[in-house]
Amino acid sequence: MSLANPRFEDSYARIFGSDIGMDGRADAFFNAFYDRFLQDDSIAAMFANTDRERQVVMLKKSLFQLVTYYVVGEPNAELDRLAAVHDRIGIDPNAFEVWMQALIETAQEFDSQWDEATQLAWCWALAPGIAYMRLMSQQSQTRRSEQP
Ligand code: HEM
Repeated sequence: MSLANPRFEDSYARIFGSDIGMDGRADAFFNAFYDRFLQDDSIAAMFANTDRERQVVMLKKSLFQLVTYYVVGEPNAELDRLAAVHDRIGIDPNAFEVWMQALIETAQEFDSQWDEATQLAWCWALAPGIAYMRLMSQQSQTRRSEQP
């Protein structure tokens, strides 16, 4: 299915190549992403015991989940599972904005043809998935605060 977002598709291909991002180039990208994301002390604390290599592989896959959500328009079982994982960890809903910002800045670093329209195209592609994860975490935060 087409994304109908050629600027995103082109940028994605410039960054990751054509093999859906499972080669070494993607490793460099996700390591750079993590360096940015972990600059926030409260977020770094949550990853204190995380094996980065494992996390990089999982993040690659999850980026595709977010894009799939954009294409298909409804969450699949894996996105639901991811939301539940983050629910258990008790992520602050605002942290998803930090995640998104780190991703956009990293994409900018790795795409030599980056411009404002490309940035908008990335936001457009990822916003639904981020909104979904954020909403799930907000709902569970509300449930927790309502518990007697
Ligand atoms: C939409 C954005 C995000 C995506 C796609 C994502 C993706 C993932 C994935 C795939 C895992 C591995 C879990 C598994 O597969 O069982 C994970 C774990 C985790 N995520 Fe996220 N994440 C996102 C946002 C965040 C945010 C904002 C935080 C806030 C700090 C966060 C904190 C964590 C932590 C602490 C873990 C557990 C790490 C471990 O296994 O030690 N994530 N995330």
